[in-house]
Amino acid sequence: MISKTLEKELNNQLNAELYSAYLYLSMAAYLSQKNLNGFSNWTKVQFEEEQSHANKLFQYILDRGGKVELKQINQPKSEWNGIIDIFENILKHEQYITSRINELVDIAMSEKDHATVALMQWYVNEQVEEEATVSDILDQLKLIEGKGSGLFMLDREAKQRVFKPIN
Ligand code: FEO
Repeated sequence: MISKTLEKELNNQLNAELYSAYLYLSMAAYLSQKNLNGFSNWTKVQFEEEQSHANKLFQYILDRGGKVELKQINQPKSEWNGIIDIFENILKHEQYITSRINELVDIAMSEKDHATVALMQWYVNEQVEEEATVSDILDQLKLIEGKGSGLFMLDREAKQRVFKPIN
């Protein structure tokens, strides 16, 4: 069994992952409307990834004999100021998620709940990867000032991204 505190915090994180999925889906719609179909694909793949992050928590709460409680998902933004603004927002959002994950690790450690620490370690590593990928894309977008043939090339590259199921 997990403690009531961890059950609550894991359910909150489940909600945060579903909100992340929703945010990326909103970005995918915006980018498609701007004819950036490669980046729209990239954010759509991220939408799928976030759902799998949520599902991993969902299964873990159940596996530990906890209660899954689905909460309301906040409405995401639907307008941004272009592609650089999108990736700046993504980076900020992922940094926020990282801080939440770190807090969850702290709680699990303070409770000596080794299984939850091990689970959250997976999320810690995932966040390192996500932040690095997003930072790279943001740097490249800034280099080309988010426009012209450079943007065309990056958009084409972003179209190649495919969803890979997680364990
Ligand atoms: Fe679920 Fe973007 O981390």
